[in-house]
Amino acid sequence: MAWRLAVAFMVAVYVENAGAINPGFVVRVTNKGLDYARQIGITVLQKELSTIKLPDFSGTFHIKHLGKGYYSFHDLVIRNFQLPSSQVEPVPNVGLKLSISDGFVQLDGQWHVKKSFIKDHGSFDLKVEGLSVSVGLALGSDSSGRPTVSAASCSSHISNVRVHISGKLSWLLDLFHKKIDAEFRKVMEDKICPVVSESINSKLQPILQTLPVTAKIDHIAGVDYSLLGPPIATAESVDVNLKGECFDLAHRSTVPFPPPAIAFPVDHNLMVYCGVSDYFFNTASFVYQAAGALIFNVTDDMIPKDFQMRLNTSTFGSLIPQVQKMYPNMLMKLMMSTPSAPVLKITPGNLTIAPALDFQAFAILPNSSLAPLFLLGVTTDVSAKIAVNSTRIVGSLALSRLQMTLKHSDVGPFSVALLDVAVNFYVSNILLPQINGKLERGFPLPLLDHVQLTDLILKPQQDFLQLGANINYG
Ligand SMILES: *[C@@H]1O[C@H](CO)[C@@H](O)[C@H](O)[C@H]1NC(C)=O
Ligand SMILES: *[C@@H]1O[C@H](CO)[C@@H](O)[C@H](O)[C@H]1NC(C)=O
Ligand SMILES: *[C@@H]1O[C@H](CO)[C@@H](O)[C@H](O)[C@H]1NC(C)=O
Ligand SMILES: *[C@@H]1O[C@H](CO)[C@@H](O)[C@H](O)[C@H]1NC(C)=O
Ligand SMILES: *[C@@H]1O[C@H](CO)[C@@H](O)[C@H](O)[C@H]1NC(C)=O
Repeated sequence: MAWRLAVAFMVAVYVENAGAINPGFVVRVTNKGLDYARQIGITVLQKELSTIKLPDFSGTFHIKHLGKGYYSFHDLVIRNFQLPSSQVEPVPNVGLKLSISDGFVQLDGQWHVKKSFIKDHGSFDLKVEGLSVSVGLALGSDSSGRPTVSAASCSSHISNVRVHISGKLSWLLDLFHKKIDAEFRKVMEDKICPVVSESINSKLQPILQTLPVTAKIDHIAGVDYSLLGPPIATAESVDVNLKGECFDLAHRSTVPFPPPAIAFPVDHNLMVYCGVSDYFFNTASFVYQAAGALIFNVTDDMIPKDFQMRLNTSTFGSLIPQVQKMYPNMLMKLMMSTPSAPVLKITPGNLTIAPALDFQAFAILPNSSLAPLFLLGVTTDVSAKIAVNSTRIVGSLALSRLQMTLKHSDVGPFSVALLDVAVNFYVSNILLPQINGKLERGFPLPLLDHVQLTDLILKPQQDFLQLGANINYG
């Protein structure tokens, strides 16, 4: 029995792990970031609460020797609504808790009293002090992969109401001010939570829904930034796990490698930290490779006039005589391709790619068709530099010296060392600027509308790039 339980447990654990998908992109909002969001949220909430329409209320009173009477309060208008003190904190595995304290409200209105044939009316003003509101925010994700937020709980309390009534019969109302205070308090308290919930639905939720779950990179690829699940609250932060996978806009295919786990360091100084997995970049590489977009050509017209090594058969014929003999006085073309998608490796402090490249040389025949000359296999250590501006991650590559081998020749054997200067020149002066020109356009970050990143930092960590920033909303 125990044995069977153990097996069942092991199977359950295994299934659970197999189902867990690592994110390609993590957004961690720190307490500092939550606090910034709170400040903006409270300003909005204060404005919403100042527009509360309070209902009229009325009642009867009974005073010894005077008997029964009727009163009403109407035309209540909020003049001032202040929420000077509040805090927000993540509640592990639940969401967020917003606590407002020491709020105060000033309002005024009209009163009316009727007691048999006596009638009077006047104005009043009222101060609400010690308003506190506690809101539990549930964080989730919807079927489109966008984040959601809702008020899971809300309670409000007013510790003190002070009514100041003016008019001839105000003394009469003052006699039972306790009852009136209590009524005001109830009228007010009943209105606050519905407005808070409504503000969360109509103001906060739409902002979260602007997450670009598919962000276009260019005409070939996009990034899938949909949430893998509800945001995860811990004591220190809220983590949002995004798919962070690049895909072909025309036809999405399954990526043949899994995203690695991201071990986020604990950092509090900035409002948000993002973990950009190597998976993010490597799915991009996979997509561009599959779409045939990692093919770059060099032709003679791209070579600066003063460079000696023209890309033609007479120049190459001086190194490999067979080229000139077989294809006299023709222009050539050098085509760079990647037999497999280059893989970016991210380690602490370093981003490197060790691509395997193919260089196919052609002679361009008079009728424009291409005659293959030889195929070089080229390896090199590429160090990648990644930078970030407020909206995009951009990259650039630097190469070390190329290692060449002759993979195939249609012009007989020759020593590749002869081509060293020419190929190194073409690669670093013509191909690399083309590739960097593309990388310069970069990858769009998953930003909500009206959110700007400032104070950006970038740090390569094991298997991911850590990006930190402060937020500016507006
Ligand atoms: C490079 O040359 C090959 C062979 O002519 C051609 O098929 C391909 O479209 C060219 N690619 C680019 C990016 O110019
Ligand atoms: C090839 O380059 C040489 C210079 O090295 C030039 O004199 C010759 O005209 C070029 N041939 C063709 C076909 O462009
Ligand atoms: C980064 O890579 C270079 C070249 O491979 C190496 O010399 C250096 O030690 C690496 N730096 C770190 C921090 O790993
Ligand atoms: C171009 O010329 C070559 C050699 O003369 C010939 O083999 C080839 O079929 C021609 N190609 C076309 C498309 O006419
Ligand atoms: C960020 O970089 C991209 C790509 O280089 C550029 O188009 C964009 O204007 C830059 N944005 C800012 C705010 O500098």
